[in-house]
Amino acid sequence: MRDKLIDFILENLDIKFSVILEASCGEGQLTIPFIKKIMEHIDNFSIIAYDLSTGPYSKSLGILKKKIEKEGFQDLVTIIQGDVRNMEVIEDETIDFIFSNDLFCDLNRIGLEKTLNEFYRILKHKGQMAHAEYAPFPENFAQNLFIEADIHSLDTSEPKPDWFSPTSDEIAVLMHKIGFKDITIKYFQTGIHINFEEALKAFKEWTVDPKFIERHKEDLRKFGIETPIEHVVFCSK
Ligand SMILES: C[S@@+](CC[C@H](N)C(=O)[O-])C[C@H]1O[C@@H](n2cnc3c(N)ncnc32)[C@H](O)[C@@H]1O
Repeated sequence: MRDKLIDFILENLDIKFSVILEASCGEGQLTIPFIKKIMEHIDNFSIIAYDLSTGPYSKSLGILKKKIEKEGFQDLVTIIQGDVRNMEVIEDETIDFIFSNDLFCDLNRIGLEKTLNEFYRILKHKGQMAHAEYAPFPENFAQNLFIEADIHSLDTSEPKPDWFSPTSDEIAVLMHKIGFKDITIKYFQTGIHINFEEALKAFKEWTVDPKFIERHKEDLRKFGIETPIEHVVFCSK
């Protein structure tokens, strides 16, 4: 799915960037395949892999570092542990392309606005962005259970976001207010279906409230869970 998402993002961009920032790289689920793909298009690039890496994600950057070493990508990637709401370690207008997957769902509205302001500050003139997120609207029971399970996570990260994920309109309006241009929303079909047993395993990882699981056991058995469609918001400075 992530390989397809990368293709989808790259197909919708004017690929001529050399300094790239992945915001919320996590353990590199997108970073590694992204580097391999981008190598097919450009020779000279570097990537900053940026993540807070705390709480349930505290081991992510260590895992990413090992993956980078295994692939021999050390000269291409700089790992930075930091908060996207305050990226003072990165200078103004130094980045050509910023992308993220599943970051905005972890921020609240104020945090999202601060983050987009930071992205605007560090992006070069004519720099581009692409941000992907599961849409917060279910198409069926299985997607509804996916969204509800996420909302019932006992994860204590602060501040607790006030949404499953922001709507694409919400993101677009904030981007426009800040000054971004060429704002375009595209939809990426995910439709990953997870059966009952696999869902229970995933819920452990996501620390979903056991009371929620108990309450919905029958529906979970019947429908499983399914990922909603992803919206990808593209824009430029
Ligand atoms: C759901 S994971 C997504 C990871 C990866 N992007 C992927 O596609 O699998 C969310 C990531 O956002 C990071 N994150 C959450 N809030 C953050 C913040 N304020 N600043 C930087 N990273 C943050 C977390 O540490 C975590 O790695």
